[in-house]
Amino acid sequence: VASQVKDHAPFGGVVPELASRRHLQNLTPVVRAALTQAGVSLNDLTGIAVTQGPGLIGALLVGLSLAKALAWARDIPIVGVSHLEGHLAALGLCEAAPEYPFVALLVSGGHTSIFLVQGPGQQKELGQTVDDAAGEAFDKVAKLYGLGYPGGVVIDRLAQDGDPGAIKLPRPRLHDGTLDFSFSGLKTAVVYFRRDHEGEPYRMEDLCASFQEAVVEVLVKKTLAAAQEQGVEHLALAGGVAANQRLRQAMSWAAKENGMRLTLPPFELCTDN
Ligand code: KG4
Ligand code: ZN
Repeated sequence: VASQVKDHAPFGGVVPELASRRHLQNLTPVVRAALTQAGVSLNDLTGIAVTQGPGLIGALLVGLSLAKALAWARDIPIVGVSHLEGHLAALGLCEAAPEYPFVALLVSGGHTSIFLVQGPGQQKELGQTVDDAAGEAFDKVAKLYGLGYPGGVVIDRLAQDGDPGAIKLPRPRLHDGTLDFSFSGLKTAVVYFRRDHEGEPYRMEDLCASFQEAVVEVLVKKTLAAAQEQGVEHLALAGGVAANQRLRQAMSWAAKENGMRLTLPPFELCTDN
C-alpha cells in the first residue's frame, strides 16, 4: 500500500491531478513489492485484475494503463474489477468474515452506500448519498476549522473529549423513508453555526462530537433499517470512515440490541488497497 496522505494534507483534501501523478510514480514499485512479498514473478501470473471504477478518472487511467500493458506483454487475461466490489470482497479476509447474505455500509471519502451482498460479486445497492460522501463531510468540516487532514481522523480524536449533545445539528434524510443519504446540508449547517457564533466561546471537541454524532446516527439507523427490510441478520462496515470509533461503537450497540452479527474489519481492510 502506498499512502498519499502527506501529499494531499497541505490542501485539506485529495487533489485529483496530484493523485494521478503520484500513482504514476508509486505504481511500479508497489507492484514489484507485491510480487516480491508473494514470492512470485511476472512469469507466474495467469491473469491480472485491476480496479476499473468508480473513482478519480486520472488515477484509474494510470492503473488501467499499467495493467493493460502487463497483460498485453505477458499475453494473459485482464479483468476489470469494481472499486466498491473490492471493498466488499476485502471483508472476506476478516477473521470474523460475514456470512451471506449480509448488509454492508460502505463509507469512504468518495462513497456512502448500503449494499445487500448475497454472494461473491453479487451485490445490490440499496441506497447511496445524493451529494457528499460521509468522509468528504468529515474532511470539509475539518478544513473549515483548519484542523488538519484527513479530517475524519482528527474529528474522531477530538470528539472523544466532546459532548455529542452540545450543539444541535440536523440529521439529514433520517425519516425520508429511503435508504439514501445527504451530507452536504449538514456541512452547511456547520458553516452557519461557525458564522453565527463567531467570537463566542465553544469547545472544538463539542463541535466535533456533535457533528460526528449527526453523521453516525443517520448511518447506523439507515443500515439497520436496510437489514430489517431485507430480513438479513449480518452487518458489515467497509471504507475509510469505518475506522471511526463512534461509528464502530454505535453500530455494535445497534447490532447487539437487534440480535444481529456485525463484522468490524481492521483498518487495513477498510481503506483503499
Ligand atoms: O476509503 P478511504 O481510505 O479512501 C477513499 O476515500 O476512497 O477513505 C478516506 C476517508 C477520508 O474522508 C477520511 O477523512 C475518512 O475516510 N476517515 C475517517 C476516519 N479515518 C479515515 N472518518 C472518520 N473517522 C475516522 N477515524
Ligand atoms: Zn475505496
